[in-house]
Amino acid sequence: MRTVYVNGDYLPENEAKVSIFDRGFLMADGVYEVTSVLDGKLIDFAGHAKRLERSLRELDMPHPVVLPDLLDIHRELVRLNEINEGMIYLQITRGAPDDRDFVFPDPETTKPTVVLFTQNKPGLADSPAARKGIKVISIEDQRWARRDIKTVQLLFPSMGKMMAKAAGADDAWMVEDGHVTEGTSNNAYIVKGSTIITRHLGNEILHGITRAAVLRFAREAQMQVEERSFTIAEAQAADEAFITSASTFVMPVVEIDGAPVGKGTPGSVAARLREIYLDESRKAAV
Ligand code: PDD
Repeated sequence: MRTVYVNGDYLPENEAKVSIFDRGFLMADGVYEVTSVLDGKLIDFAGHAKRLERSLRELDMPHPVVLPDLLDIHRELVRLNEINEGMIYLQITRGAPDDRDFVFPDPETTKPTVVLFTQNKPGLADSPAARKGIKVISIEDQRWARRDIKTVQLLFPSMGKMMAKAAGADDAWMVEDGHVTEGTSNNAYIVKGSTIITRHLGNEILHGITRAAVLRFAREAQMQVEERSFTIAEAQAADEAFITSASTFVMPVVEIDGAPVGKGTPGSVAARLREIYLDESRKAAV
């Protein structure tokens, strides 16, 4: 049984409790982060902590945990649950007022709810999917307009994964005004020649922590990077495609809406970026 963290306590998972009035439960009024663990260490913790701060600020939510404590809690959960490879999930909601109300509660009396738990994933880095590549379908992006904030409103992405599953694919790329925004839980990329193309930052996509690292490593390795939007047709005609996220690192995409990308097998740019990302992230892990 897992040991989880809730509002200052480390508890067995079946003893951890949150109120039914919690605004995360009633209104999806909460933010989250997923940080991966390799070799028992946290990958890009500083990046995730910084984005968490930004998400909270954008929603006028007080930050309930100072940075050193946040790091301690992550590390303690890794230790208690003996995680070598996996993820730490963190969620902060606006807390549980006495009653349901659209108006935000007074932050003096209603304190945020803080929950963290581990997900043990042995073999996360040496994933068979990374050798095979994944298939995606395209769907209309029907999420709200502030996708730069990492909120727990994951119903549409969840529906997107189900649509992909029903179509025999692994994931979905969302499209808005004819252009790909991102994957249901990852950022989307194509490669043309030696140029890596991924959508520019804005409110339309989550500013992926893995995206930032991968683009930095790509530029350091003298690869060309273009931050701009692209269509599904352009992606289908590209030499390669891939996604990035904290849980998939760099994952090749070999098929889009039934059409093979390039040779229909994982490409060399994605493979190289995955290797660099894993190497460098392991070195910098805390
Ligand atoms: N998802 N875009 C969306 C919509 C995401 O949900 C995620 C992360 C990303 C990639 O961000 P990062 O590189 O910081 O993980 C992009 C996490 C992993 C999840 O929901 O499980």
